[in-house]
Amino acid sequence: MTESKTLPSILTEIAQDVTSKGDSQVAARAFKAYKRCLESLVEPYVGDGFLDEDKALPRFFSETATLHLAVSLISQWCATHEHQVGRTGGFWDIHEESRFFSWYRIPPDLSAQIRNWVTVHPDIDDMLQAVTLTAEDSLAGLRRHSLGEFFTPTTIAQHLVDLADYDPRITLDEKVVDPACGSGNLLAAVVGRTAQAVHSGILDPLQAISALNSNTFGFDVQPVAVLLTRLQLLLASLPIWEHSELPGKSVYETLSFPGVRLRDPLSDPDDLWDLFARFDVVVSNPPFLKVTKSRLPFVEKYEKVLYGHVNLYQLFLWWAIRATRPDGRLVFLVPQSIRSGQYSSRLRQEITDACDVVAVTSFVGRTGVFDCVEQPMMAIALKKPAAESQKPDVKVRISANGQTLGEIPALTIGQEQVVWTQDGVSTWCVSNERMDYEILAKVFGEHTTLGEIEDFRILNGGLVWNQHTERLKPTEDEDALPLISSASIGAHRFIFPPSDKRVSKRLFVDATSPLPGPVYENTSILLKRTTPKIMRGRRIVATMLLNDFVERYGGYFAENHVNVIVPQQDDATSRHLLGLCAWLNSRLANFAFGMINVSSHLSKFDLSLIPVPISLLTELSSLAERLADNLTDEQIKETLERIDEKVFVFFGLSSKESQRVRQVVPSAG
Ligand SMILES: C[S@@+](CC[C@H](N)C(=O)[O-])C[C@H]1O[C@@H](n2cnc3c(N)ncnc32)[C@H](O)[C@@H]1O
Repeated sequence: MTESKTLPSILTEIAQDVTSKGDSQVAARAFKAYKRCLESLVEPYVGDGFLDEDKALPRFFSETATLHLAVSLISQWCATHEHQVGRTGGFWDIHEESRFFSWYRIPPDLSAQIRNWVTVHPDIDDMLQAVTLTAEDSLAGLRRHSLGEFFTPTTIAQHLVDLADYDPRITLDEKVVDPACGSGNLLAAVVGRTAQAVHSGILDPLQAISALNSNTFGFDVQPVAVLLTRLQLLLASLPIWEHSELPGKSVYETLSFPGVRLRDPLSDPDDLWDLFARFDVVVSNPPFLKVTKSRLPFVEKYEKVLYGHVNLYQLFLWWAIRATRPDGRLVFLVPQSIRSGQYSSRLRQEITDACDVVAVTSFVGRTGVFDCVEQPMMAIALKKPAAESQKPDVKVRISANGQTLGEIPALTIGQEQVVWTQDGVSTWCVSNERMDYEILAKVFGEHTTLGEIEDFRILNGGLVWNQHTERLKPTEDEDALPLISSASIGAHRFIFPPSDKRVSKRLFVDATSPLPGPVYENTSILLKRTTPKIMRGRRIVATMLLNDFVERYGGYFAENHVNVIVPQQDDATSRHLLGLCAWLNSRLANFAFGMINVSSHLSKFDLSLIPVPISLLTELSSLAERLADNLTDEQIKETLERIDEKVFVFFGLSSKESQRVRQVVPSAG
C-alpha cells in the first residue's frame, strides 16, 4: 500500500486534474448548462459578477472536484466495509443535478489514494466531518459567501435539532424541511437521530428508511449544495442501511432522498403555504444577505414583514412560518439584530402574532460560532399553535461562542418578559438573569417614552459631509458655521474642535444658500449614533450643547452620525434638557436600553422608545449643572454616582438590582 495522503492534498490533486481537463468540449458544455441553471435561480440575489466566467469557472471546477471526492469516498468506504453498493457512478445516475458534474471521472491513481485514505480512516463519523470540511475548504476564496454560504458547525446543528424537539422515536412521520440546506449539516443532524434510534433497536430499519425518504426535505439554489446534502444524508443514514439487509437495490437508490431538491422556495411558495402547508418541523440556518428589494420579482408576497432594507433571512423566516402546519415547530439561526430596531419590527410583529417563542439561545462572542460571520447570532425556537392558547414560558440560554451547549442551564421565563412590547413595538429581551427582566419592568413600568413627550424633538443631525466636500473648511470664517461630528461627543463631554485628526478638515461648513443641511440655533442634547466597541455596556453617549456655543457661532450643523434632541417650547423645557441628558447617560438608562436594543446604532426610532422619568428631571438637572463647573475627576465621578443613585431610588431598584446594573454598565466618568 502506498503512503496515505491527507484529504486536502488529494482534493488539490483532483482539482488540478479537473482543471487540466476543463477545456474539453464535454466540460465546456457542462459549464454552459451549469451557468444557465444558476443564472435562472440566483439572478434576484446576486449582483456584481457572481456569474462572470472568471469567477464561475473556477467555482465550477472546485465544486466538480469536491463532489467527485465525496462520492468516491463514500463508495470506497462502502467497498471497504463489504457493502454491495453497486457502481461508483450510481450516485450520479439517479440525480438530475449531477449532470453538471458527471463529465469528469477520477483517474485510477487518485482513486487508489482515496482507497488508501479510507483504509487509514475507517471511522464513519470522521468521514462525515471530512466531507463538509473539505467542501468548505475547497470553496474558500471562491466568493463562497455570495449567497450566504456559511455552514453550520456540528455542535450548533445538534443544538438546533434539540430545540426543534425532534424525536423520531415518537414521530417518525413528521415532515422536516431545511429551506436553504447548504451542505446539509442540519438535515444530517436530524437523520442522525433516526439512525441512533435504529441502532438502539427502537425503530425498524426498513420503516425508518421509508420514512426518511418521504419526510426529509431540503432546498437550495445551488446544484452542489443539493448533491452535498444528499451525500451527507446518505452518510448519516448508512448505519440504518447496515441494519436493513435490503436486497437488490443499490444504497444510492435506496437512500435517494427525493425531497432534497434544487429549488428556490422563496420565489414560488404558493404550493407550500398556509392551507397547503406540509411541514411539521423547519430547521434552518438561512443565508444572511442584504438584497435589493426591486430585484425580487416576488417581493409582494413578503411585503407584510418588510420595512426598509431587506435581508434574505427575513424572507426565509416568513416563508417557514407559512409553510409550517398548525402545531408545527420552527428553529432558526438568525442574527441578533432581529431582536430590536425598526427594520425587523414588522417581522417580529408577525412572528409574535403567528407563533409562540419557545426557546432562545444567544451566542455571545464573535468568533468560534462561524469563523467569518461578523454578526452575533442566536437560535430561536418557535411553535405555531393550532388554536389560541396561553403563551408558554421561554427557555433562554447564553452560550459563549457556541461552546458546551448541552450543559448550559436554561432560564425559564415568561413569554411576555422575553417578547417585550412597548408603544406597540415588540422587542426580544434575552438574558439568563431573572433579575434583569425585573429591572427592565421597573424602568419601563408606567413611564412615558421619549417619543411620546411633545416638549422634545428627536432629529438626525442631517448633514452628510461627503456629499458636500467642496463646502467643508478646516477653519472658521464669516460665512461658515461649525459642523458637529460624533468625535466631539462624550458622555457629559463636548469638545470642539475635537482632538480626532480625521475630522480636522471638516470643522466648518460654508453656510451660504442653498444650505447643505439643517442649521440648529438652540441649545440641544447631542448623541453619538454609533457606539464605539470600547464602550461595552454603555450604549447611549450624550452631551449638552450649551447656549454659549450657539451664541459664539450663531448656529451649527450636525452630521448624520449625530442625533440631536431639541427643546420644542420654552425655557422650562430647556432646563429639563440637562436633566434628560443626565438620565440618558445614567447607568440605568443604558442598562435598560441595552436590554431592548442590540444594534450598535442608535436611531431616532430607538431613542423614541426610551422611557423618561419626567418628575425626576428637575432634580437631575440641578445635579448635572455641577458638571459644567471646573470639577476634578474625583468630583465628576462623585456627581455621576449621585445621579445614578437618584435614578436607582426613583425607579425603586433594590440594592442587589443596583449592584447588577453597576456591574453591567460602567460609570460615565
Ligand atoms: C447558511 S447556508 C446553509 C447552511 C446549512 N444549513 C448547513 O449547515 O450546511 C445558506 C444556503 O442558502 C442557500 N440559498 C441562498 N439563497 C437561496 C434561496 N433563495 N433558496 C434556497 N437556498 C438559498 C445558499 O446557496 C446556501 O447554501
